[in-house]
Order: sequence, then C-alpha cells, then structure tokens
Amino acid sequence: MRSLRTGLSLAALFTGAVMLFAAPAAHAADTPLRDLAAAKGKVIGTAVTGSKLTGTYGDIAGSQFSSLTPGNAMKWETVEPTQGSFNWAEADQIVAFAQAHNQQVRGHTLVWHSQNPSWLTNGTWTSAQLSSLLQNHISTEVGRYKGKITAWDVVNEPFNEDGTYRSTLWYNGLGANYIAQALTWAHAADPAAKLYINDYNVEGVNAKSTALYNLVKSLKAAGVPIDGVGLQAHLILGQVPATLQQNIQRFADLGVDVAITELDVRMALPADSTKLAQQKADFKSVMAACVAVARCVNVTVWGFTDSDSWVDSTFPGYGAATPYDANYAPKPAYYGLSEALGGTTTTPPTGACSATYSVGSQWNTGFTGQVTIACSGASLSSWKASWTYGAGQQITQAWNATCTQSGTAVSCANASYNGTVPDGGSVSFGFNASWSGSNPVPVVTLG
Ligand code: XIL
Repeated sequence: MRSLRTGLSLAALFTGAVMLFAAPAAHAADTPLRDLAAAKGKVIGTAVTGSKLTGTYGDIAGSQFSSLTPGNAMKWETVEPTQGSFNWAEADQIVAFAQAHNQQVRGHTLVWHSQNPSWLTNGTWTSAQLSSLLQNHISTEVGRYKGKITAWDVVNEPFNEDGTYRSTLWYNGLGANYIAQALTWAHAADPAAKLYINDYNVEGVNAKSTALYNLVKSLKAAGVPIDGVGLQAHLILGQVPATLQQNIQRFADLGVDVAITELDVRMALPADSTKLAQQKADFKSVMAACVAVARCVNVTVWGFTDSDSWVDSTFPGYGAATPYDANYAPKPAYYGLSEALGGTTTTPPTGACSATYSVGSQWNTGFTGQVTIACSGASLSSWKASWTYGAGQQITQAWNATCTQSGTAVSCANASYNGTVPDGGSVSFGFNASWSGSNPVPVVTLG
C-alpha cells in the first residue's frame, strides 16, 4: 500500500511538472530562425517538396526559413523527363511560394551525374552534341528563372573522395572543362545569380575539399564566373569535422562565398534523448562555424522535418536527421540552430513532454486536426491535452482520445490503449472540427 501511494504521488508530481511546458511547435513564441539569422547577416534555408507546401509544413517552411531549395523539382529528370517536353510545375510553385514569403531560392542543380532523364543517359552523343545539350539545358532553366534565383548549384558533386574528378557523363564526354563551361553559360543566362560548385564530404579540410579549393582558385585565376562553394554537410551524429570553420575560412579567403547547402545529421534509429542532445550540439556547431565567418552566407537544412528527409530511405537504419520530428515538433536540434544564432530557448529542449497541434486537410466548413504528444528525456503513463479555440472552431468527432468541448475550451484525454508515451516516443490523436472565417492554431497545454 505504501509503495503504491508513493508511486501515485510521484506520478502526480511528474505530470504536474509536465503541465508547465506549453506546446513548443512552430507556433510558440520563440523568435523564428530566419529573424535570428537575419540579425547575424545570415540566411537560413530548407530543401522543400512543392506538393507539401500547405498546412503546418507550409507554415513552418514560410515562417522559419529565409531561403528555399527545391529538393528535386529543378533537377534535369524532373524538368525534362522526355527530350523537348518540359515540366516546370513544381519548380514554379516553389519559386512562387518563396516570393510570397519573401524568401530567396537556391536553384539546385544544373550539372550532375545523378537524376538525369534516361533519354539523356541512355543516348549516344558526340562531345559536340553533349556540349550543346548541356548549354541548352542551362540556358533554358537559368533563363526561365532569371532574376528569381539568388544562387545556383551549377555543378554538383564533381569529385571523388581522393580529389580526382568523378567519372561521369559530363567529365567523360567533355573533360574537366565542362565545369568552366557550365559556369560561363549559367552566367550568360542570369548575370545576377551567384554561381556555386556543390559537393559532399568537403566540410572539413581533406583531399576532396582541397581539390575543390584548387579548382576554385584556378577558375578564379582564369576569370571564370564562380561565386561560391556549397558544402552539403550530410553528417553522421557526433562527426562534425573539427576543421569545418577553418575550411570555410580558407574558401572565404579565396574570395568566394560559402553556403552549407544540405545539412542533416543522421543517427542510428531509434532516437533517444542522448542522441538528440548530441544532434543538437552538432547542428549548433555547424551553424556556429558559419556565423563565425563573414562570407558564409547561408545554412540550408536538407528537409526541416523527419517526415521529409531523404536519409531514411538512403541510409537504412538511420534517420531522425532534421530539426523537426515527423509531427512538426521542434527537436533539440532546432534549439541548437536557434542558440547558435543568438536565440534564447524558451522551451526545455530535453527532459520534457510536449504537445503539438497541427491542421491536416481543411475545406470550406471543416478541417481535420492532429495533436501529437512527444516525450524526450521523460515519459507519461496518462495524458490530457487542453486548448482554447479562438475563432469559434467546434470539434465534431475525435479518435484515439476522448474529447469534450465546453464553449471554447477543449479537453482531450488518452484512450484506454494509448496513455503511455515512452521516452523518445510519441502518441497522436485526431479529430474533425468545423470552422468559419479563420482557423488559428491554438497553444496546447499538457496535463
Ligand atoms: C536527394 C533528394 O532529397 C531525394 O528526394 C532524391 O530521391 C535523391 O536526391 N545530394 C544532393 C541532393 O545534392 O540533390 C540529394 O537529394 C541528396 C544528396
């Protein structure tokens, strides 16, 4: 009896502590990353998928970031799947979204060995034909978006790990000069766009980054238009190179800008609070290295949510590589970015459970909502999520929770089968509701 009572009062105390933490989410009062970055003279970006730019995904992409990179929409296989027939729909959509949200666009990418259309890779071309195909591709794409793209990843991944040139369609057909030619053609099509060479495993000082360094140096000496280098930064947990800042600095000293173009930090799954804390430190040190060098102009994450990351399918067993979890709750990594940009964390990044509210689909009279309760460094054996609707919204039906609404006050308690939220885990419930006029997102309190 005695131990039972102790257990109960501990649980009550613990639940009480959790109640203090309102939902952090994208909608919390924390200063948006893009505002923090602007105060440091930096731009913060994310790769995006055009079809997802609505609801909570669109809200976060538009409010937290000052630059967008199309994850796939501007690649050759996307824009010209059949020779001579073009599909600009997703690229146009992303550019329009960026303009509506006062964001830069990084164009990605014009010359690469991967994600080319099969008509191109399966064709037999003389080098003159190959050269004119590439020139046409660059002129067409860069010309279409002239004045709308801040920077182009003109050439992507030209090097092997040992610093020799990668054997590709372009290198094999045109020689190393394809790089200078591509830059020159891109410059002719949009003289204002900043032109980059982008690669991975070039974050620290090593053979590959030194080859990139030597290439940039020789291009500059030859008067070829090269404005920057992109360090992709697809990193593994705990492995931010110690020479990152030194490497950024040596490129800056060459007279080019530097961007971290595809930052993610993957971990072996499942995630836990120790790994998430290390990931926070990793995101923070990458951002801090950029903040420390004036010519480091942009840090872009390769997907801002774990539900929109290439990592899980590309590196089996690894994931959780981005700053937001799959339900759009900011992870410790988000606060790592924020802190490196001078932000103060208003929500404990670890050791708490939080609730995140998001709107899924919405139609003229109704919408579907979801609340996710996630724990990191803590756990729950039962929960209740409460909020106040500010614009007359009314819940009509809920699942995976028992919800009651009295006036504007909503309270949802766990069902019999989902009261437990383990450390590093999450539970979600959904509901249908009506709305009219506006549908603002409320702050959810856990208790
Ligand atoms: C990735 C995309 O994110 C995936 O959706 C796609 O299936 C493969 O390409 N380096 C790059 C990016 O320059 O273009 C790649 O993007 C990730 C590695």
